Amino acid sequence: MKTLNNTLAAGAVLISMAAVFEAQAPPNLEKQAWGTFDGKQVFLYTLRNASGVEVTITNYGGTITTVKAPDRNKKFEDVVLGFDSLDGYTSKTNTGYFGALIGRYANRLAHGEFTLDGKQYHIPKNEGGVNTLHGGDRGFNARVWDAKEVTSGGPALELHYLSPDGEEGFPGNLNVRVKYSLDNKNNLRIDYTATTDKDTVLNLTNHSYWNLAGAGHGEILNHKLTLMADKFTPIDSTLIPTGAIDSVSGTPLDFRKATAIGARINDDYEQLKLAKGYDHNFVVNKGGRSLVLAAKVEEPGSGRVLEVLTTQPGIQFYSGNFLNGKTQGIGGAFNYRSALALETQHFPDSPNHPNFPSTVLHPGQTFHETTVFRLSVE
Ligand code: GLA
Repeated sequence: MKTLNNTLAAGAVLISMAAVFEAQAPPNLEKQAWGTFDGKQVFLYTLRNASGVEVTITNYGGTITTVKAPDRNKKFEDVVLGFDSLDGYTSKTNTGYFGALIGRYANRLAHGEFTLDGKQYHIPKNEGGVNTLHGGDRGFNARVWDAKEVTSGGPALELHYLSPDGEEGFPGNLNVRVKYSLDNKNNLRIDYTATTDKDTVLNLTNHSYWNLAGAGHGEILNHKLTLMADKFTPIDSTLIPTGAIDSVSGTPLDFRKATAIGARINDDYEQLKLAKGYDHNFVVNKGGRSLVLAAKVEEPGSGRVLEVLTTQPGIQFYSGNFLNGKTQGIGGAFNYRSALALETQHFPDSPNHPNFPSTVLHPGQTFHETTVFRLSVE
């Protein structure tokens, strides 16, 4: 009888501990006011999964501000560059597109021009007066998106932005929806959809900068990178594709076997000199159809691993060559090569290269692309 009583008592303790745990377990999606911009309210949303991974996203620019992920000893660090306040993002000195959604045209358009259906369009040449970079003077990264929280089936955030006809010079009212979701296997999934009412061009990406040792923990030169890419699109001195699609074989752009980013970055190789490091679009093997693995990054010290899967045909690998330490954010100064970006995308300047996969969207069609950032440890 005594044993039974003890068992019952122990059971009761366990039940009440479970109740306490339940009561204390943080919700998987939280929303906090973060200020206003353009007279619209800006919020910070925290998506959290069962293993404690946390992703914060603001509807200003649809921006990922932090990603907290464990190392092999379960120590959590923020592994992306970001700011701890809205001012950091809206400041004129923020020219890095940190964590933001990029549109209408991610990456570059030569001379801010393209021709569609026989008509020439002019987009602001916001990169040194020479080319358009990441959508013009004010791209999707600097717009306030509508946001809707989803809590059933894992935390998710649905963002919506209506880009009016003629915005930054692009034709057509473009309805863009981006859904961020986080599952219990540490997949941060981004689903992009868009429709238009006039023929237009479109290229969407997310511009997160990763340092798997943790933001502020030095350069990314010892991160090992694998790119599932046999080919890349070589660039000219203004980082515009020449139109060629070349093999990576025998070049410092061959990352088909895991290689430290710093191993060849300063090689005397024209493509590296032009970009001051890596800043190239790679052609994803079997890309542009279904969701495939495009890249893997391993940080030997922490054991953190990032895999990038995508339906997009290209991935821009940028080694943080324009970071110069002048911008301060979470983790301190954003120093030279202290983070890397893997921007899944259509090829840069596609509207001016008929041999590249088309970026034209017609009325009645739905643009749909998916990218997954998968975090793990080794
Ligand atoms: C992209 C470009 C880079 C750089 C960054 C933002 O990655 O390819 O050249 O402009 O965006 O600084």
